[in-house]
Amino acid sequence: MFKLDPIKKMNEEERLKYMNMLLKSQLSSEKDDIANLSNASAIIMACVERLNWAGFYILRDGELVLGPFQGLPACNRIGIGKGVCGTAVKTKEIQLVPDVHQFPGHIACDEASNSELVIPIIKEDRVYGVLDLDSPEKGRFTELEKEYFIKFVNILNEYIDWNNV
Ligand code: SME
Repeated sequence: MFKLDPIKKMNEEERLKYMNMLLKSQLSSEKDDIANLSNASAIIMACVERLNWAGFYILRDGELVLGPFQGLPACNRIGIGKGVCGTAVKTKEIQLVPDVHQFPGHIACDEASNSELVIPIIKEDRVYGVLDLDSPEKGRFTELEKEYFIKFVNILNEYIDWNNV
């Protein structure tokens, strides 16, 4: 059972640390990758405020395909170089977008989204997909969150067998 009560009293950094601790605890107690990615997206939604979508797109046969997530139903497939997620894959760079309406080619899956943080999932120089976070608030994502989500993806890389997801 996840203990979420302590979060209420925590500041931003304590919550992010707690999120990564919960992730590690989930991944070290379960081997199934789909169960782990599903709970990973639920852990984000439980620990980080003011998000409307959090989840994964997995790279399959040259395009991104929707994976486990929390939020409204979303686009099933995104081409490499398309939207914020496809750009993160093409450039292999984190995309911290304060206003998605200013991002050329942004794909509006949920019209409530106004800002976005996308972390490419890269292991041994190969891209396996992205972690995508959306917020209804413009300028929502901070550099501190970016750092903790890089750690989040590093923890995933320790445990998830991306070739079999
Ligand atoms: N906005 C994303 C598409 C995915 S949804 O936000 C869940 C993009 O432009 O890549």
